[in-house]
Amino acid sequence: MAFLEICNITKSFGDFSVLKGIEFTAEKGEVVCLVGASGGGKTTMLRCLNLLETPDSGRITVDGQVIFDGENTTPLSAEEIHNRRLMLGLVFQQFNLFPQYSVLENLCLAPKLMADKAEYPRIEQEAMELLTRLGLADKKDSYPCELSGGQQQRVAIARALMLKPRVLCFDEPTSALDPALTHEVLQVIRDLAATGMTQVIVTHDMDFARKVCDKAVFIASGRVVEMGTPAQIFDNPQHELTRAFLAQDEQE
Ligand SMILES: Nc1ncnc2c1ncn2[C@@H]1O[C@H](COP(=O)(O)OP(=O)(O)OP(=O)(O)O)[C@@H](O)[C@H]1O
Ligand SMILES: [Mg+2]
Repeated sequence: MAFLEICNITKSFGDFSVLKGIEFTAEKGEVVCLVGASGGGKTTMLRCLNLLETPDSGRITVDGQVIFDGENTTPLSAEEIHNRRLMLGLVFQQFNLFPQYSVLENLCLAPKLMADKAEYPRIEQEAMELLTRLGLADKKDSYPCELSGGQQQRVAIARALMLKPRVLCFDEPTSALDPALTHEVLQVIRDLAATGMTQVIVTHDMDFARKVCDKAVFIASGRVVEMGTPAQIFDNPQHELTRAFLAQDEQE
């Protein structure tokens, strides 16, 4: 069994079927990129992974633990949903940092809400360790508006890591960044992968995807059209839809 398993996920909004049976897996420490044309369902798939949307059917497991099981219709307690959600971290495109809080406070806020006061020093120590690891220790008292886009993105990654997710998901992590800052994020993702963090990344940036991923999953109209190594998908795509998508991307 793979570390992350996505089996036959479907999701409709009203009559509109957005996900039509998405399947892919990731091994521990693997970086998987979801790529494909706009409107194909990539963000919806990530939101389903994080239970921000409830899939209509299918199954999601992380390290053998069930995140979503369409067969099981027993309602889950709020605590159970919360616990399942914590297993998958999500870093948004626009970072979504709290502007009124310092970098350190951004990292500590959610963990402190879930902890006893006695644990606050430990939480702050963990936050400082993460900031140091991501090269941000000297920014701990800065506010988000005082940081570059790349620094903000790294703070957002650190904040997601504070909750100790088993899988970290990103939606367009580089779309607001210039090439130098994109490289910073690439390096952070590679370092995390080296520590065994499993990552699922939605991106429009094919150059970034090629550099960062172990496996590329090409999604069109709510289906996985093909998947494989970056070399297979970007250099030798088998499916007509993948070829057309990549050819169009090159023209842009
Ligand atoms: N809450 C919603 N209600 C109704 N339709 C939705 C909702 N969320 C997404 N959709 C529709 O589902 C389809 C897939 O959207 P999604 O955001 O998952 O695509 P995407 O692959 O991430 O696209 P992009 O590359 O532009 O970000 C779109 O047609 C979108 O309009
Ligand atoms: Mg999207």
